[in-house]
Amino acid sequence: RHRIIIDTDPGQDDAVAILLALSSPEEIEVLGITAVAGNVPLSLTELNARKICELAGRPDIKVFAGCDRPLGRKLVTAEHVHGKTGLDGPVLPDPKMQVQDGHAVDFIIDMLRAEPAGSVTLCLLGPLTNIAMAFEKAPDIMQRVREIVLMGGAYFEVGNITPAAEFNIYVDPQAARIVFGSGVQITMMPLDVTHKALVTPARNDALRAIGTRVGVAVAEMTDFFERYDKEKYGSLGAPLHDPCVTAYLIRPELFTGRHINVEIETSSELTMGMTVADWWRVSGRAPNVMFMGEIDADGFFTLLTERLARL
Ligand code: BDR
Ligand code: CA
Repeated sequence: RHRIIIDTDPGQDDAVAILLALSSPEEIEVLGITAVAGNVPLSLTELNARKICELAGRPDIKVFAGCDRPLGRKLVTAEHVHGKTGLDGPVLPDPKMQVQDGHAVDFIIDMLRAEPAGSVTLCLLGPLTNIAMAFEKAPDIMQRVREIVLMGGAYFEVGNITPAAEFNIYVDPQAARIVFGSGVQITMMPLDVTHKALVTPARNDALRAIGTRVGVAVAEMTDFFERYDKEKYGSLGAPLHDPCVTAYLIRPELFTGRHINVEIETSSELTMGMTVADWWRVSGRAPNVMFMGEIDADGFFTLLTERLARL
């Protein structure tokens, strides 16, 4: 069973990733959720994280607020994709559960020090600021992480926020560089995977047909989320980026990729935040990432629909 901390900037797709984790207690134990500024400012991502826990009937989950801006750059947000609230689509009540005292970065550090080494997995669904801060502040925790599974970057699918960069990496490239250089085992879900995890009308109908509050709310989220991609890319449906991370923990065989070297561009403004992936292994640099390239999308949506129906 994976014991995980979810670091996130909800975000409709973040919300679905969290719901998938919370609906799969046999495979996943959620130790806490840490919010970071990304899709929308921190005050909203933190609030949205609590709304989702309550939607899942889990007000007992600890939610912490983390960094409100990237390490060295101005925050770039994505209301154009996620709406003003970051979670446009369903109308969810204001949460009753409180945000935890203390900073998310300290929670991450304390948790990794308190739990047995090699037992905690970090699931990263937003800009990598919180984790990079934790690694900088407490380098001893790096060797205690079991694995990082993250959504971010791209290779063949290049960029979605600039021509060269994917949003999560672009927002805080310095943080990404720290994380990718940490020596921690990383499994990465880039746009190459997530742009194949599309909520087609039939898949959306299946989610809605679950008929529960969660099923309907998720269908409303993906309905909203889809608008942007449809207009922008003419795609068949919204790409469910972040749920690929939690699905991987449950059914790793849904994904295939390559163990390669990935470096992060942090100096050129033109290609800032690009994930330079040595897919053909031409650089001689040591592999640092399991870079996923393919997903069994039907298997993924079957899993998602089945699991969300449990909530
Ligand atoms: C990533 O950026 C955010 O908008 C999504 O939540 C996802 O984590 C996709 O590029
Ligand atoms: Ca996200």
